Amino acid sequence: MKTIAVLSRKGGAGKSTLAVHMATAAAAAGKRVMLVDMDPQRSSLDWARSREAEWPVVLEGRAGALFTTHRAAEREGIDLFIVDSRSSADAEASEAARLSDLCLIVVRPNFFDLQAVGRTVQMVENMRRPGLFVLNQAPVRRNGVEPCAIRDALLHLADHPFDMAEVGLRQRAAYQTAMWKGLGAQEDQPDSQAAFEINSLWASLAERLWPVAGRQTYRPRIVVDTDGPLELALAG
Ligand SMILES: Nc1ncnc2c1ncn2[C@@H]1O[C@H](COP(=O)(O)OP(=O)(O)O)[C@@H](O)[C@H]1O
Ligand SMILES: [Mg+2]
Repeated sequence: MKTIAVLSRKGGAGKSTLAVHMATAAAAAGKRVMLVDMDPQRSSLDWARSREAEWPVVLEGRAGALFTTHRAAEREGIDLFIVDSRSSADAEASEAARLSDLCLIVVRPNFFDLQAVGRTVQMVENMRRPGLFVLNQAPVRRNGVEPCAIRDALLHLADHPFDMAEVGLRQRAAYQTAMWKGLGAQEDQPDSQAAFEINSLWASLAERLWPVAGRQTYRPRIVVDTDGPLELALAG
C-alpha cells in the first residue's frame, strides 16, 4: 500500500480539492483507494455524500487513530491511502507525513501561502519523508502570458529542498462544480483543461509511487528563470 499526505497549514489552499481529485483519478486507474478526512470541516466527507461510485472509500479520521486506520487499510488490501489533513494540527500532520510515501504540499501562488510553506517543509524533512509542491489556484494566462505570480512562486519554492510537481492546477470553475456532484472535474468534464491537469498530475504521481523500471518518467521540464520563459505543464 502506498500513502499520500496532502498538507498545507493554510486553510483554503486546496488540500481537500487535491485529495478528492487524486483519489478519484487513482480509482479510475483501478486502484483501491481510501481517503481519510482529518479536517473537522469534513470537506471530503461532504463531497463523498453525493458520490455514487464505490471508490474511493472516504472515512472520517479521528485524531490519534490514524496509525490504526492505516494498518487496517493495509490489511484490507487498499492500494492507496490518502490523508486529507487539517490546516493547523502539527501532531496530526506530522503523523500523516510519517506514514507517507509522498507528502503533497499544496501552495497557492501568493505571499502568505509562500511564507507559510517553510514550516510544512521543515516538518516533512523532520519526518524524513519525500515532499512535492503542488501549485494550486494558479491564475490563468492572459493573452498567452503567464502571470508573474506563478514565476514568483516557482522562484520562491526553488529555494526549498523539494521538487515542484510538473503539473499544477489553475483556478477553474470546473473544480468547484464537480464537487456538488460527488465527482472529480475529470469525471464531470472529461474534455476540460481541469481534466487534463488532474490526469497529468495523477500520471506523474503514479510514476513516483509505483516506478516502472526502464520506463521513461513523465517529467516535463520546468524552467525557473527570471528573464526567460516559464515552462510548467499547466494547461491554458
Ligand atoms: N484549482 C481550483 N480552482 C477553483 N477553485 C478551487 C481550486 N482549488 C480549490 N478551490 C476552492 O477553494 C476552496 C478551498 O479549497 P479546499 O480544497 O477546501 O482547501 P483546504 O482543504 O486546503 O482548506 C474551495 O471552495 C474549493 O472549491
Ligand atoms: Mg480541507
